[in-house]
Amino acid sequence: MTGQRKTRAQFGSKFGVFAAAAGSAIGLGNIWKFPYITGVYGGAAFLFVYLGFILAIGLPVMLSELVIGRRSRRNAFGAFNKLAPGSPWRFIGSFGVAAAFLILSFYGVVAGWSIKYIFFSLSNTFDGFSPLQIAETFDAFVADPGKPLLYQIIFMILTGAIVILGVHNGIESFSKVLMPILLIIILILDIRAVTLHGAGEGLRFLFHPDFSKLTFEGVLSALGHAFFSLSLGMGTLITYGSYVNKQNNLINIAVQVTVADTVVAILAGIAIFPAVFAFHIEPDGGVGLIFKTLPNVFIQMPGGVIFSVLFFILLTIAALTSAISILEVVVAYFVEELKLHRRSATIIATSLITLLGIICSLSLGIYSNVQVFNKTIFDLLDFISANILLPLGGMFIALFIGWFFGKFRVMREVAQGGSLKGWFLTVFMNLVRFVAPIAIFIVFLNGLKILDAVMALFKR
Ligand code: TRP
Repeated sequence: MTGQRKTRAQFGSKFGVFAAAAGSAIGLGNIWKFPYITGVYGGAAFLFVYLGFILAIGLPVMLSELVIGRRSRRNAFGAFNKLAPGSPWRFIGSFGVAAAFLILSFYGVVAGWSIKYIFFSLSNTFDGFSPLQIAETFDAFVADPGKPLLYQIIFMILTGAIVILGVHNGIESFSKVLMPILLIIILILDIRAVTLHGAGEGLRFLFHPDFSKLTFEGVLSALGHAFFSLSLGMGTLITYGSYVNKQNNLINIAVQVTVADTVVAILAGIAIFPAVFAFHIEPDGGVGLIFKTLPNVFIQMPGGVIFSVLFFILLTIAALTSAISILEVVVAYFVEELKLHRRSATIIATSLITLLGIICSLSLGIYSNVQVFNKTIFDLLDFISANILLPLGGMFIALFIGWFFGKFRVMREVAQGGSLKGWFLTVFMNLVRFVAPIAIFIVFLNGLKILDAVMALFKR
């Protein structure tokens, strides 16, 4: 279709908006990454720092994205172009679309593993395996030149199919069904975990802070993860915000989504650590915590097969509702800026992202010798998107709202004719003008290892 679209898609109900946005936030980040980095950085102390960043930085940046989206009613690129025509701010949007492309390519690969693990669990593959055999099974599977691609492609087709159905009939409808299922599954897993003999040690690890274990790197990872987990920094919530109607309260949405995302991360920790400790497995298993460590727990646990199946279904659902939000960033851009039909936009975007994902997947096996800056393609895309594009995007979004868009327009867009408490605006504006950009900039330098180099200079 060319020319002006008459009516732009909108989310239908309040719960629909919440389910879609929470669906975006709650993903592999909560269930796969949060528990393992909490394990690596020492448990509760890391959790407390993370909560601080969520409140002081995550929440204001999320509100900023929603404001930009709903005010402009455009995709991540078009939004800046409309609010600040012709200015360099529009490059923030291009970064976002690029980041979406890169993130979804490897996100789809990991989500594919999750689907495969549903089948491993159903056939009780790991029964009688030693921890080493379990780890080797994972390593062999991800390095295989064929099998992981099959599951990645299945996952990407599911993602594309939901997005093709549209904002209301696809994204919103599926999120409204999948998110309650996710909550039920995680609660079942939590009940199983805390009733295991010896669960207390795991809960203590998660909730009893030992600040002596907290490192500078841990603090920085907490901020980086706050961004990733809340889906900030590349325009996902600008895009979703552009579908929110004027009657909805943006502050409520931002608060509810932030709380939901954090609660699910903690619930995932509660499902995992008691089990890990009860079966005497080290909590700092790193990236492989879910795929290499948890199967050891499940094979020892009464009813392990069913809980294992449920766990990987949970992981797949969480990944799916996030993946659709990432794909929508690219699709909305293709539709509005390149004037493609939603159908062709989705098919083209999904295919290109899947192709890049295939290269990512192969880079863990037959292409593992292709390295750029000492990293496989998989690690490189993860690194560029999480350590460069997201923090930069988040920083410029905060600066845009704080210094360009300004207090008055924020108030008008958020209050919609009503009023806001004076202290709220003051606190919010200070956070987006100063606190968030400075904190993010430090994380960004760290991501590039620039801080290490500077520290080393001082130590000499
Ligand atoms: N937040 C999701 C997770 O926790 C992933 C995600 C979706 C994301 N959209 C994003 C991450 C935008 C960064 C930016 O898995």
